[in-house]
Formats: sequence, C-alpha cells, structure tokens
Amino acid sequence: MRRVVRGSRILITGASSGIGRALAGLVAEAGARVAIVARSTDKLDDLARELTVRTKAEVLSITADVTSEADRRRMLDTVVDQFGGLDVLVNNAGVASFGHFGSSSEDIMRRVMEVNFFAPAELIRSAIPILTEGHHPAIVNVSSMCGRRGVPAWSEYSASKYALVGLTEALRGEMARFDIDVLLLVPGLTKTDLRANLLHNTGRMKIEFEKGMEPEAVARAILKSLEKNRTEAVVGWEAKWILRLNRWMPRLVDRLMNRRVKQLYAAESAKEAG
Ligand SMILES: NC(=O)c1ccc[n+]([C@@H]2O[C@H](COP(=O)([O-])OP(=O)(O)OC[C@H]3O[C@@H](n4cnc5c(N)ncnc54)[C@H](OP(=O)(O)O)[C@@H]3O)[C@@H](O)[C@H]2O)c1
Repeated sequence: MRRVVRGSRILITGASSGIGRALAGLVAEAGARVAIVARSTDKLDDLARELTVRTKAEVLSITADVTSEADRRRMLDTVVDQFGGLDVLVNNAGVASFGHFGSSSEDIMRRVMEVNFFAPAELIRSAIPILTEGHHPAIVNVSSMCGRRGVPAWSEYSASKYALVGLTEALRGEMARFDIDVLLLVPGLTKTDLRANLLHNTGRMKIEFEKGMEPEAVARAILKSLEKNRTEAVVGWEAKWILRLNRWMPRLVDRLMNRRVKQLYAAESAKEAG
C-alpha cells in the first residue's frame, strides 16, 4: 500500500548534513512534520529555520548523540511530546573509517559499530511501542553498498553496514505483526561530508567523493521507497553494477579488488621481497 508522506511524523538522524539534510528538505516540502537530529546544534537550527520559512512545515531540531542512551530516550520523548507520536524513523546518522585494517584500532572499530549499528538497533528497540501506535509506520535504515559487498580499506564500515542489513532483514518479519514496514537503502558513493568525518583516513585508493551522487538523489530514493513501500533500494549506477556483478560473479569481483590492492602496495611488496 502506498504511504502518504503529507502529515507523517518523521524523525531523521544525521540530518545536519549530506543525505539526512537533503531528506529533511524533501519530506518537509512534501508536507511531513520533521524531527531533525544530530550533534551540531547550529547546523540543525539553521536548517530548521530555513525549512520552516521555505516550506511552512513543522520542523523540530533536536541536538543529540545517537550513541547515548539518554539522548535517544530524550529524542523520542521530545517527538512524542511535540508531535503526539511517530510514524517514520529514519536511521541515517553514520560515520566511516578508511584504511588498512591492520593499522587501525579496536577503538575505531567500536566507534564505527556504535554509531552505525548499536545506535540504530537500540533506537529501533525503544521506538517500537511508539511506532506501533503510529499511522502506516515505517523504519528506514540507511546502509551502504559496503553493506552488500565488503570493500578493502572499508573493513570496519563494511562490517557495521552488513550488521545493519542483517538486523533490517530479521526485523522485517518481526515487525510485520505490528504492521511496521522495515525498509533498506543501499546507496553508492555520494557527494557528502562523510569523507571529512572519517575516523581514520589512510587508505591508498583515491575515493572521489566529489564524483559521487548528489545527496538529493539518495534523499529522493528514500522518499520514493517510503511512498511506494519499497523493501530495498540500491541507489546509484556504480552500486547497481558492482552489486549485480558481485551477485553473479563474486570471484571475479574478489580478483579485481585483490589485483587493485596488490598494485597499490606493489612498492612495499617489492621491498619486502628484497
Ligand atoms: N557518502 C557516501 O558515499 C555514502 C554512501 C553510502 C551510504 N552512506 C550513508 O549515508 C548516511 C549519511 O551519511 P552522509 O554521506 O550524508 O555523511 P555526512 O554528511 O557526514 O552525514 C552524517 C550525519 O550523521 C551525523 N552523525 C554522525 N555521528 C553522529 C552521532 N554520534 N550522533 C548523531 N548524529 C551523528 C552527522 O551529524 P553531526 O556531526 O552533527 O552529529 C551528520 O549529520 C550514513 O549512514 C552513511 O554511512 C553514505
């Protein structure tokens, strides 16, 4: 059944920049009531002001760290208090780390998992009773192409996004009895601040974020998924062809990735060989 976004009460984490910010704009334009969450108060407040003036939508700015249990509780309480409930939870906040796994650290692994996996998981758990009372409720989890195909130098990130995919698929069945739809987004490279926010940035392969999709393209795909109740959407031509190739020829994708890594580390390998 199609979902009507106009009038929906939507909470978006990670809305101070990139995909979350673009999505907040789109759903506000579509007539939703939006709660925008992130740690950067100034960015959120500026966005809330801009959207309120431009779209006349009701926009609620909530400064919160999704990894804090108290902050998660407060964001849900605020939304229930101000909107009278919640219809759509969008788990979009994310961080990444790029570099050789061996020279990264346990701390980075845990921080990536905290933001990208444990936070959305616990936010979902706390939101279930509220969403159950919502109108045509949905949970939207923003994973990544790396959550469907692990990519060298993105090991912590890939692991966290795979974990989110597993949770999403398992919850889809569990939430069916509450009539809560659980949707998955699998975007490819997107032109956002993710690179500036990398916890570790020592990878050798040049990742050209500036050649990625505009965040608005991903936001449009999220809005479409919500409206059409699409279970999973892969966004971007690059993600589509890599995942298609990986489905039919995973060994070839392995070989191509291995060859590229060997090229990038050829000088070291030659030195070690003597
Ligand atoms: N860019 C890409 O190529 C790409 C591709 C596939 C998937 N994705 C996914 O898309 C989602 C959005 O990322 P983006 O590309 O739009 O990057 P971005 O511009 O860096 O946005 C990340 C957002 O997450 C928020 N955030 C980070 N840690 C947080 C925390 N502890 N608590 C609350 N908010 C937090 C940031 O806000 P504050 O810093 O203000 O807290 C920011 O609003 C992420 O889940 C990412 O993994 C991105």
